[in-house]
Amino acid sequence: MKSTAITLQKSLEKNKIEMVDFYNEATEDYEFWSKDYNMHFGYYIPFKTCVFKRDAMLNEMNNQVLNRLDITKRKAFLIDLGCGMGGSMRYALKKNKNLSAIGVTLSNFQVKKGNELLKDLNGTILKEDYNHTSFASNTFDSAMAIESFCHSGHSDQSVKEAFRILKPKGKLVIADAFLKKDETQLCYGSRLAYQKLCNHWSLERLETIDNMVQKLKKQGFSDIHIEDASFRVAPSVLHVPFAIIGFVIKGLFSSNPLKRESLHNLKGSFYALASGLHMKSFGYYIITCSKKT
Ligand SMILES: C[S@@+](CC[C@H](N)C(=O)[O-])C[C@H]1O[C@@H](n2cnc3c(N)ncnc32)[C@H](O)[C@@H]1O
Repeated sequence: MKSTAITLQKSLEKNKIEMVDFYNEATEDYEFWSKDYNMHFGYYIPFKTCVFKRDAMLNEMNNQVLNRLDITKRKAFLIDLGCGMGGSMRYALKKNKNLSAIGVTLSNFQVKKGNELLKDLNGTILKEDYNHTSFASNTFDSAMAIESFCHSGHSDQSVKEAFRILKPKGKLVIADAFLKKDETQLCYGSRLAYQKLCNHWSLERLETIDNMVQKLKKQGFSDIHIEDASFRVAPSVLHVPFAIIGFVIKGLFSSNPLKRESLHNLKGSFYALASGLHMKSFGYYIITCSKKT
């Protein structure tokens, strides 16, 4: 039993190291995906966002998360748990001047470059693990985790830490992909896409949406609202093949060879698309919940 726990711990550590290397080396590539460095998928609204304008859809995802946090106007202290280059923070801070924000990431590259992009705004990126932060309990009014908790397998620990650092009545919004059924029930194609996706994007695993709700409840979150946003996200997922082709063509004309991590990232993007096509197995959800008082 003890040796199984040690093996699991070692595998978690290995995944974390790989994930940090991946983001240190491949984050720059995301400029190709989004000029605003949004490292997530988008949200499509008919007649509001155009399916051909990727950045508009990616920023709409930021907008949707902020609306659910209810911080588009009021004064609030926001934390972005797994903030990437701070794309969502910058969007939020530009939209609401009464906001201050902290982002956490494990990537040195993202801390350095992300803070440069934030220099005229009321936000800072720190190198911290969202599973064990240094913040005092009850610090933040709002927390968001956009496509970041998947790196820790949507774990109890991530939920517990978010709960701890939120003030009473504080809101958490998670936007991420989840399984619709247990890993063991996935068909051959879904399982293959899932394993390759986790491997190439250094995701610990994806939780099922039902288990995630149970984890949030068990931790003490209330008013848990789940939205299946798969069809909203799909148009931006369909940009993946075009983005890959464009990125590779750009690479062919560049003097720098494609990095190993960039190749890994491209393959990950392909498997994200492949997973997304298995709609009975995977879904993209936006979860909103509040810390009980
Ligand atoms: C796909 S990116 C999403 C970034 C950002 N949320 C966005 O939407 O642009 C995942 C982010 O999670 C961060 N991350 C993963 N595990 C983390 C951990 N344990 N602690 C802090 N950040 C973490 C990565 O460094 C990366 O910045």
